[in-house]
Amino acid sequence: MAAVGSAVGLGNIWRFPYICGKYGGGAFLLVYLCFAFGIGMVLMMSEFVIGRRSRHTPMRAFASLSPRRKGWRYIGLLGIVTCFFILSQYFVISGWTLSYFFDAVTGRLATMGQDAAAIGCYFTEFSTSASRPVVFLTVFALLTAVVILCGVQKGIEAVSKVLMPVLVVLLVVLCIRSLTLPGASRGLSYLFSPDFSKLSAEGVLAALGQAMFSLSVGMGVMIVYGSYIPASDDLFRTSMWITASDVLIAVLSGVAIFPAVFSCGLEPAGGPGLSYCVLPNVFNSMGGVTGVVFSAIFFLLLSIAALTSSISLLEALSAWLVETLRTRRFVSTLIIVAAEIALASIVSLSNGMWSHLQVGGDTFFDFVDRLNSIYLPPLCAFGTVLFFAWVMPEADVRDELTNHGVLRAVYYPVFRFIVRWLAPLALVVVFLTSILT
Ligand code: PHE
Repeated sequence: MAAVGSAVGLGNIWRFPYICGKYGGGAFLLVYLCFAFGIGMVLMMSEFVIGRRSRHTPMRAFASLSPRRKGWRYIGLLGIVTCFFILSQYFVISGWTLSYFFDAVTGRLATMGQDAAAIGCYFTEFSTSASRPVVFLTVFALLTAVVILCGVQKGIEAVSKVLMPVLVVLLVVLCIRSLTLPGASRGLSYLFSPDFSKLSAEGVLAALGQAMFSLSVGMGVMIVYGSYIPASDDLFRTSMWITASDVLIAVLSGVAIFPAVFSCGLEPAGGPGLSYCVLPNVFNSMGGVTGVVFSAIFFLLLSIAALTSSISLLEALSAWLVETLRTRRFVSTLIIVAAEIALASIVSLSNGMWSHLQVGGDTFFDFVDRLNSIYLPPLCAFGTVLFFAWVMPEADVRDELTNHGVLRAVYYPVFRFIVRWLAPLALVVVFLTSILT
């Protein structure tokens, strides 16, 4: 459940629709699904095996599984760097979500009615302003730290077990509302009828990046979680279950967002603000108190989903710092959170006041987004999969996947082929294509 909590988050409801809209809809969805099951899930199993076999955080895990080739531990370090950048951006978007929750409760969103232009303007004004997003991201970051320090298991696991299903139910309600808006069918066909002429090489890479971001793989988080998985769990079934629920929630949010996008006359390629510009329209179309109640519950649940994901990132980072600096958990968590708040504030301010802060023609926000999806995770995943398939003893892998010979693992030959050949090849091809084109 904790791993589902890590996987299901803003990646599904905030990121998936806007990336899918940016790269052409249906064709992107199809490629994304292939990557999620063909590569993402396989990577997840590999990370679980590495974590459970070693019972360590990434750097040590790599070192302990290949004692004579300690250089592999730098793949673990790359994962940590990736987590660091992802968390900074994650805090910014989580801050938006929290702020929207307050706007829903106070009725501010409702006052905008079904005026898509006003709702869009509000988002732009808010996200480019200096203080409010920074205040909310700081509150959210501190909240994450408090949960981590109070003990992850009792609090958050219990809470997310109940609330995740509620989030799904709410998402289904939203889908129904969105589908009954006038002109909704155009959104559905945008999402489900693939037009491959719209898919660029960068789109394919973005699909891979999105699959990895959404499944929380390619940065060692699942190695950390794998190290907590009981010896008796079937890693194949666990990974299958997580991947299926994660993909389902992404598709559901696509069904909730795109019909509404077209119905409100908005652009599917609306960028990172897409969900925040679209959802208030859908809520407000429910009318009066119903809309207010639904939007408040929805943004609250989305904040909680974001919390369970950021917890997994912060947990990985602070567990690593505890292991390397031998500090106390309290100290390491505070150090990381302070550094993250600083970086996240820069990311946030680069949407407005500091928009001149550019890297290679991108705003700092877009640059970090690129790092987080297109560059760092595929690179780290490539190292992980090479290590897993070519360096780690095969007997250990088989032993973990069959739970010491108890399970049959009929899928093993296919799995082995994918990790040895297909996954590394796909990662290299997709990565090079994006750099060279
Ligand atoms: N998978 C999370 C989401 O979809 C984001 C995440 C990425 C969490 C990497 C942990 C590690 O929102």
